[in-house]
Amino acid sequence: MNVGIIGGGQLARMLALAGYPLGLRFVVLDPAPDACAAQLCDHLQAAYDDPAALEELARRCDVITYEFENVSLTGVDKIAEVTAVYPSSRSLAVSRDRLREKTLFRELDIPTPQFVAIDSFADLENAPKLLGWPFLLKTRRFGYDGKGQYLLYNAGDLQPAWQALASQSLIGESFVPFQREISILAARRKNGETAFYPLSENQHQNGILHLSRCRPDDPQTKPAENLIQRLLETLDYVGVMALELFEVHGKLLANEMAPRVHNSGHWTIEGAETSQFENHLRAILDLPLGATEPVNYSAMVNFIGALPELADLLEQPGIHCHAYSKALRPGRKVGHATVRAPTEAALEARLNHLLKLLP
Ligand SMILES: Nc1ncnc2c1ncn2[C@@H]1O[C@H](COP(=O)(O)OP(=O)(O)OP(=O)(O)O)[C@@H](O)[C@H]1O
Ligand SMILES: [Mg+2]
Repeated sequence: MNVGIIGGGQLARMLALAGYPLGLRFVVLDPAPDACAAQLCDHLQAAYDDPAALEELARRCDVITYEFENVSLTGVDKIAEVTAVYPSSRSLAVSRDRLREKTLFRELDIPTPQFVAIDSFADLENAPKLLGWPFLLKTRRFGYDGKGQYLLYNAGDLQPAWQALASQSLIGESFVPFQREISILAARRKNGETAFYPLSENQHQNGILHLSRCRPDDPQTKPAENLIQRLLETLDYVGVMALELFEVHGKLLANEMAPRVHNSGHWTIEGAETSQFENHLRAILDLPLGATEPVNYSAMVNFIGALPELADLLEQPGIHCHAYSKALRPGRKVGHATVRAPTEAALEARLNHLLKLLP
């Protein structure tokens, strides 16, 4: 079976690494000559919306998926006539636009921060009446790692925020003073079979995910499953989905969803019976889903901009290194490590050690 992936970054690379033991082959579409998944997959080097390249991808593959949301909808709809694309273009259309996404949350009674469309400076001036201070101005599309966001504290911030972001469609969101950030990942197959992973508890630094801990038996597990289930069913979803949540005084608010494998689920490679990557492939190929039970205790740390010394990492028990073979650049995710341990206390000790190795 040949799997096509739009995007050739680390998520595509880890999908391929999970798929080879199942006998799958991979073709990635990515304009970058040094796309890190291209080291192990066939590479169509062209723009993500290049019609001829998309057509070739569809011709060569049995199923197509994508590793990020900024994929051309018309392109996806066109190739979907030839080869199945999962998650569906509807799932993609909703999740790549923060306004559509939050509107769907509201329709499904999924609590979400207060929000409002910002189409003019007057809308921005009016926003604090609804959102209060401080509030966030975000681009509706193309945001990742906290990019395209402006936190406004008072009226003096309105002009600079507008100047920074007004060239794009925008949304205003109330700022949530959350106690915790968590995410839930689930895999769903066409026949509705669904598997939920244990919750991830996430910490960000400068808007970029820094650390995710697997939290088996977390008290928010059932409430979070209930929320993502509504999205999976409404969208008749196929593949892995992630839902990012804020916990505020024991209540969950949905921040955003991702129609793909997710950074907060990287610990599943070693820390779950079946990884998110393998389950995404199983789901889109309509194969039985694998068990999502945790294997011991685990946590994942991202390597941003630089990698620790490999020898230092490998010296430690329970550390599993993933270097993405990407050029090192400040603010860029270039690898991660998962730590695993038989007890929670041992995990914390190993994690502290790993954090000290970060450059
Ligand atoms: N309304 C909010 N209130 C408080 N903090 C927020 C809010 N929105 C976002 N944040 C913080 O900023 C982080 C990044 O925001 P968000 O998830 O919306 O953007 P993103 O660029 O898509 O990020 P990522 O690529 O990491 O998912 C959140 O994980 C959270 O820590
Ligand atoms: Mg996010």
